[in-house]
Amino acid sequence: MLRSFPALASNKMQALQSLPRKSIILALSIVTILIVLFRFYGDVPVDYYRNYAPAEAIAPVVTNNDKPQPGYFKAQPEWDWQVPDYSNGWQGYARKPRNRDVLVLTASDGGGHNSAIPNVLERVLDDREKYCQKHGYTNLWLNTSRYDIGEAHRTWSKIPAVAEAFYLYPSAEWVWLIDTDIILMTPEYDLVNEVVGPDAIKRGIMRDTPILDGQLKKNPTYINTPKNPRVEDIDILITQDHQSVNTGSTFFRRSAFTRYLLETMTDYSMLMGKEHTGAEQDAIKHLMLEHQLVRNHVGIYPQRKFNAYAQGGNNMGYRDGDLLVHFAGCWVGGKCQEWFEEFWGKKGHKDVWRPEGQ
Ligand SMILES: *[C@@H]1O[C@H](CO)[C@@H](O)[C@H](O)[C@H]1NC(C)=O
Repeated sequence: MLRSFPALASNKMQALQSLPRKSIILALSIVTILIVLFRFYGDVPVDYYRNYAPAEAIAPVVTNNDKPQPGYFKAQPEWDWQVPDYSNGWQGYARKPRNRDVLVLTASDGGGHNSAIPNVLERVLDDREKYCQKHGYTNLWLNTSRYDIGEAHRTWSKIPAVAEAFYLYPSAEWVWLIDTDIILMTPEYDLVNEVVGPDAIKRGIMRDTPILDGQLKKNPTYINTPKNPRVEDIDILITQDHQSVNTGSTFFRRSAFTRYLLETMTDYSMLMGKEHTGAEQDAIKHLMLEHQLVRNHVGIYPQRKFNAYAQGGNNMGYRDGDLLVHFAGCWVGGKCQEWFEEFWGKKGHKDVWRPEGQ
């Protein structure tokens, strides 16, 4: 047996050497052609197979918008929404999401101030559906009146909706929470390249800018956003008006930090059950003013990036080309319906309508 080994080996060598060169060349050519063909014609992006999230939604998503939750909101399964390993530390990650993993969330029961506008919920949902189809984003409406949030003000119930959105869509990477009193004015606007992608964040968020708690002149906080934010850390994207952050249009990224922030914001004895006129908006503002760690994870964009108001100067008021218009505070002068219809008629407009300096 032992002695036959060398013999066997040399036999093999001979066999290899005697293989005709032609067939080797032919085999190599075929492999090369296949590689080239696959690269150019079977062009399935690598991203397609990348495991983006702990679980892809395979079964169609079922919402329970027509029935109340069985008990206190925090005890519901959606608060156990999962995050993948790469986003479970506070150092985070940076990458461009797939468009389908950007979720546009309307958290509303159609009531409140907005009910002054006829069929407002149906109209904006239909419009957002078209926007999402155009870009491949995911559109979702969650009925906020089904959450049992105790005695807290109803606007807090937007936060359980964010948790439920992450839970219902396990691959959703960014959830964009937008109020019902918002009209998307520029349907071409690309959220990944303009807002949530790492390059956009790097380019766009405001460094060393004061975090407001009322008007800056009257009540300076002396607390600023980081001078050198790390794009990997940014999990929340928000804007400020002249007084404070505004949660009417806010982006949340699936990460352990975001989950903990949502849980903390809705802590009943520390924040949610307390008297806060600005509800969930005051909660995030308070946490930003109080905690360096929270400031590191919240990126503040200039207001008009994704939260222009119907009225205001160049920092605040809608101008041609802005993504959207938000009718924040329209009920004060009873103007909701009038303003809404005016802007609705100008949706997607290309003419010169609200130019700079007006
Ligand atoms: C929202 O939920 C509430 C409570 O579950 C329900 O009474 C109401 O009909 C729902 N609204 C819509 C528009 O489905």
